[in-house]
Amino acid sequence: MTTVPAPATPAPVLDKPLMRYGRRTLERNAPGREPVEYQLLTVHPMTPHLGAELGGVDLSQPIGAELADEIRAALLEWKVVFFRDQHSFAPEHQRALAALWGEPEENPFFPKGQGVGVSRLAKDATAVGNENIWHSDHSFMANPALGSVLRAVEVPPAGGDTMWADMGAAYDNLPDELKQRIEGLRAEHDWVPSWGSMMTEEQIAKLRERLPAVQHPVVVRHPVTGRRLLYVNEPFTTRIVGLSAEESRELLDELVLQARIPEYQVRFRWRADSVAIWDNIAVQHYAISDYYPARRVMERIAIAGVPLS
Ligand SMILES: [Fe+2]
Repeated sequence: MTTVPAPATPAPVLDKPLMRYGRRTLERNAPGREPVEYQLLTVHPMTPHLGAELGGVDLSQPIGAELADEIRAALLEWKVVFFRDQHSFAPEHQRALAALWGEPEENPFFPKGQGVGVSRLAKDATAVGNENIWHSDHSFMANPALGSVLRAVEVPPAGGDTMWADMGAAYDNLPDELKQRIEGLRAEHDWVPSWGSMMTEEQIAKLRERLPAVQHPVVVRHPVTGRRLLYVNEPFTTRIVGLSAEESRELLDELVLQARIPEYQVRFRWRADSVAIWDNIAVQHYAISDYYPARRVMERIAIAGVPLS
């Protein structure tokens, strides 16, 4: 008698977070933190949990202690905040705004703008943007940037939006078994596979001395709120420590793609004199590269970070 093999069990696709649908957990604040009551700022949410336009402030005027506290609180609550129509906003105001959080941090790869820590990102048909991949700025550093302040200098007539994704939501919605699997794991972050692909071997070797590959937890706690955040990204996270190459790749592929789920995202349409600030540990971002041959010029200041745990 011939034995007919049983048909293979179909893969349980609904175990994969990207294949799930229906309600998602979307918390604006970390556990135990209440919504803030603002006295000076007006807050216009762009989604219920991520991104808000802040009104009632002229950033070209000195920022007093009370307003500074409200802007810092709004950033913790909304994770990315925007100011419109800042017609008199100049590089010195951008530096003053970044200083509310800490010291400016140079990016080793971007062209420099005017002043310490200012990167100038000028893109057109001959120098197209390659920040169209979900990432966290400087995650390849031992102390990744806490945040960034981005100013629109020249905006294309259409396109050139930026998107942000809430990595607290990305963590919260992982299946419990996946959360348990990644608990305590660490991942390596490295600039060589992305930035290094545009450099010579000599350039890579020279920068390597200053920027070795680093490790961070796969799930970090936010340095201020303590919220748990999924902290791996497509271009910079190269492997999960302690797993085989195959296991590491499979797990990373699943984790880095969480930023692509639309409910975790917000999208911002730039206009002249728009300013954005984001919490670079709580969110990832993606610069949409769709506006050529028009030109888009931005200036960014990254804020120096702290070790993540
Ligand atoms: Fe970036």
